[in-house]
Amino acid sequence: MNQKVSELTEKLADRHALSLAEYQALIDGYSPEAAEMLAGRADAVRRSIYGNAVFTRGLIEISNICRNDCYYCGIRRSNRLCSRYRLSEEQILECASQGHALGFRTFVLQGGEDPYYTDEVLCKIVSALRSSYPDCAITLSMGERSRESYRLLFEAGADRYLLRHETADKAHYQKLHPPEMSFDNRMKCLRALRDIGYQTGCGFMVGSPGQTSAELARDLKFIEEFRPDMCGIGPFIPHKDTPFHDMPAGTLYMTCYLLSIIRLIYPPVLLPATTALGTIHPQGRELGIRAGANVVMPNLSPVAVRGKYTLYDNKICTGEESAECRGCLENRMRSIGYELVTDRGDIKKEKR
Ligand code: 5AD
Ligand code: FES
Repeated sequence: MNQKVSELTEKLADRHALSLAEYQALIDGYSPEAAEMLAGRADAVRRSIYGNAVFTRGLIEISNICRNDCYYCGIRRSNRLCSRYRLSEEQILECASQGHALGFRTFVLQGGEDPYYTDEVLCKIVSALRSSYPDCAITLSMGERSRESYRLLFEAGADRYLLRHETADKAHYQKLHPPEMSFDNRMKCLRALRDIGYQTGCGFMVGSPGQTSAELARDLKFIEEFRPDMCGIGPFIPHKDTPFHDMPAGTLYMTCYLLSIIRLIYPPVLLPATTALGTIHPQGRELGIRAGANVVMPNLSPVAVRGKYTLYDNKICTGEESAECRGCLENRMRSIGYELVTDRGDIKKEKR
């Protein structure tokens, strides 16, 4: 490992901040030894805050209907081959009820930007969940909405919102999205969410087409400055019916390396080992946890629709029941010495 990388690691662990050029040098300085060292540091910091606990969130994929046309995504509106579905309020409440019985205390409602979910419709669902499960966190991951809409949903009882920024580099953002989508609006949404009082999550894809280390450095700088409560990162994986079908996937090693760096940038951050990470490698999620992640999000969607929420090819967990996913992850975490815990799993900021 080069001298520079170990110096940068020390500096990062100490000050939780680097310059853009330094982040880039750290990324470019990747080696298996550097990754090992960073993962060790990241794991130690995470243990000092959360012990060996891995938090779990029940993911309910409520709709794959989307008005957007992101070039990387399998449920983009131009994909005529995608068979569309939308869960009814009853179906969503049924998923949550099964999840609650399995011990989940956080529900994540994720979906495409489906116009069916007006404020009225979504607030009604959130309120119903809020009154049935006063002890649970309700997380929404439903894309860009107006500030007013975010406010109404918050008042209806949503606590957290996940909105990946996808890339913190405007020019790169424009290469991943059609012209009608706006980087500035994405950032504006994130600030509004934070302002309203949500625990806010951002995130990005690793190895999205054309991404450079300079752009990844900007993602790291953004995380350092924004200090999100959650940060979802996973490898880009091509989907066969999208414009990026023949682009190479992001890598396991770079995703894990970045997970370690993000843990050091903001030690209390809630960092999932994502389904995409589990998809590119059979032990991807375990390796992500070892590198510094501390959240897993097993699928609670009805099995009948799981195969339809395909953002990328070969997605795992599409045939398993909710209880199977939960059990599977519990075993996987135990096998590497971590404990799946079922509480709300709020961020522990005070330990900083
Ligand atoms: N590969 C990996 N991740 C993807 N996402 C969408 N399409 C892909 C893909 N092809 C991610 C985006 C989005 C999240 C829900 O899934 O980052 O925000
Ligand atoms: Fe879904 Fe393993 S987590 S089957």
